Amino acid sequence: PRILILGGPGAGKGTQSRKASEEFNVKHITTGELLRANKDRDISEFESEYDVPRTYMDQGELVPDEVVTLLVKEALSQVNGFVLDGYPRNVEQAEELNNMTDVDVILYLDVDEEELVQRLTGRRIDPKTGDTYHIKYSPPEDPEVERRLEQRDDDTEETVRERLRVFRETTEPVIEYYEERGQLERVDGKQSPDEVWVDVRKAVENAQ
Ligand code: AP5
Ligand code: ZN
Repeated sequence: PRILILGGPGAGKGTQSRKASEEFNVKHITTGELLRANKDRDISEFESEYDVPRTYMDQGELVPDEVVTLLVKEALSQVNGFVLDGYPRNVEQAEELNNMTDVDVILYLDVDEEELVQRLTGRRIDPKTGDTYHIKYSPPEDPEVERRLEQRDDDTEETVRERLRVFRETTEPVIEYYEERGQLERVDGKQSPDEVWVDVRKAVENAQ
């Protein structure tokens, strides 16, 4: 299947995409991770001044469309099925995606802002495996894992606030865009990760 997972910062896109990728045996394509892996790569060929993704990401701003669209195009050209997480984030990107591929199911993980702030400020990453935890909601059982957990550079309170603003102003119109076209499936993202997964899996199975 070709799956698109939309949602605000911290809505659980990564968490659910990883499950879907395993269950349906498709590649997880995530622009956030692709960009984090290239945080200090020179992207000035796209812009007038010297720039790296970090300049944008650590401020909570979107990285220029040309850069992200190129990464997505490259990734999509190598796969049939996929679960795409983090793209599109504005209407221009949604139109770009239309030109690149069809999508079987578009899910929106609906979570209110207060909950998003709680999730992001409590999120921790295991640098060894890339697994995501939450200090309250899903702490690791292994104390060794717990000791090496790290916080993402953009999960500081100030940057989280800016990411939420960018989501409201720039990405919410993408939700409306798909809703108007009758393509959007809303999922209650406030449930536990396992409950959200039940709904995500059902929606994907129904679309196949
Ligand atoms: P990106 O990495 O995509 O960040 P984001 O959209 O802010 O989303 P997150 O990764 O923070 O959250 P998530 O929804 O994946 O939630 P997660 O599963 O981790 O993008 C980062 C930056 O890259 C952007 O700010 C921008 O600069 C740039 N960028 C990326 N794409 C771009 C694009 N297309 N165009 C331009 N720029 C782009 O879960 C969060 C936490 O909650 C975890 O701790 C988790 O354990 C916990 N959790 C998850 N589900 C639940 C649940 N159901 N209940 C309780 N806790 C839960
Ligand atoms: Zn993510």
